Amino acid sequence: MQPSERAKPTPVQPALATVFLVASSLAFVAGARAAEPPALKELMPKGMTIGAALSQRQSDGKDGAAAKIVTRHFNSATAENVLKWEKVHPEPGRYDFGPADRYVAFAEKRGMEVIGHTLVWHSQTPAWVFAGKDGAPLDRETALERMREHIGTVVGRYKGRIKGWDVVNEAIDDGAEGTMRKSKWREAIGDDYIAKAFEYAHQADPAAELYYNDYNLTSAPKRAAALRIVNGLKRWGIRVDGVGEQGHWLIDGPSLGDIEATITDVAAAGVKVLITELDIDVLPRDPGMYGADLEKKAKFRAETNLYPDALPKEKQDQLARRYADVFGLFLKHRDKVARVTLWGVTDAQSWLSNFPVPGRVNHPLLFDRQGKPKPAFDAVVETLKKK
Ligand code: XIL
Repeated sequence: MQPSERAKPTPVQPALATVFLVASSLAFVAGARAAEPPALKELMPKGMTIGAALSQRQSDGKDGAAAKIVTRHFNSATAENVLKWEKVHPEPGRYDFGPADRYVAFAEKRGMEVIGHTLVWHSQTPAWVFAGKDGAPLDRETALERMREHIGTVVGRYKGRIKGWDVVNEAIDDGAEGTMRKSKWREAIGDDYIAKAFEYAHQADPAAELYYNDYNLTSAPKRAAALRIVNGLKRWGIRVDGVGEQGHWLIDGPSLGDIEATITDVAAAGVKVLITELDIDVLPRDPGMYGADLEKKAKFRAETNLYPDALPKEKQDQLARRYADVFGLFLKHRDKVARVTLWGVTDAQSWLSNFPVPGRVNHPLLFDRQGKPKPAFDAVVETLKKK
């Protein structure tokens, strides 16, 4: 064989090169895939969905980064605001279903379970709802009629499409006695306003699941009050499917023992346990701020806006451990917890940057302001993988 002949490319060489190129680009694609974080919804135990509250901007399709995260990780959606009375029914006889329709469509398009939040609440409800005729206090019959008409219209519109409703939100006050909140609904109607709301919701969509939703059910008196509501409904033969503990928790409380007691007590009452608004506040919280004047709020903001740029590593790790701990409990009680919903998609959107005082930079969720998974996300993934 002449040297020149040896140098001549044989037909085999380009073929090999092609094989090599194809193989290496396949490996590259596989590598890129492996680098993408696992999808939360695929790691959840069977029978437990994972959700996020969607802001109006998100369900309007104006937040592409959030939409990508939602599509990949979540199989349940809650409307953060667009189904609340003030949004959907701002004036007597006038409904604005545009944003809510887009929310339901956004979730359906992605095959997500659609949750309705919320029908009867003291907050984000227009003043006209609680106004009596000619300046008189609102009477029982008028209040019941407004409630029935609202629930019938809103639940009826999404009949068969919204899987479950937070029918009544936050009906219990925060005192040590676990008494009912003095809401305007209760003032006008009486204690049976809760039962009426559940009845009306059931009439409007007999197949929909119906939930009672509240915060701090980790506190024993409040939890006992919630269970009295559930037991009462059951006794009267009124449909109730679950209790939502909102899960607006702090980095150092409530204790895991109190969270676990909430899960087991609610389940023992024979209804589903839902963690409906999970986020973990990393900033100092002062209940005295809720009704404080602007000056006090400004002072508190200045003193407690501790991480305006980013969460330092030590705090990131603490948040990650806290998320791992609570997800560990959800897994331990996978037969009881039907859904875990985070109150927002990324830190950029979290309501906790404006609660209890406006203008702080909070970091309570699993994805940071750029939409990147945080150490807390990785910790949840690791916890779920161990299941
Ligand atoms: C919050 C929303 O996240 C905010 O955008 C809005 O301004 C106020 O309400 N408990 C609830 C939720 O049941 O509806 C609240 O959502 C947070 C506390």
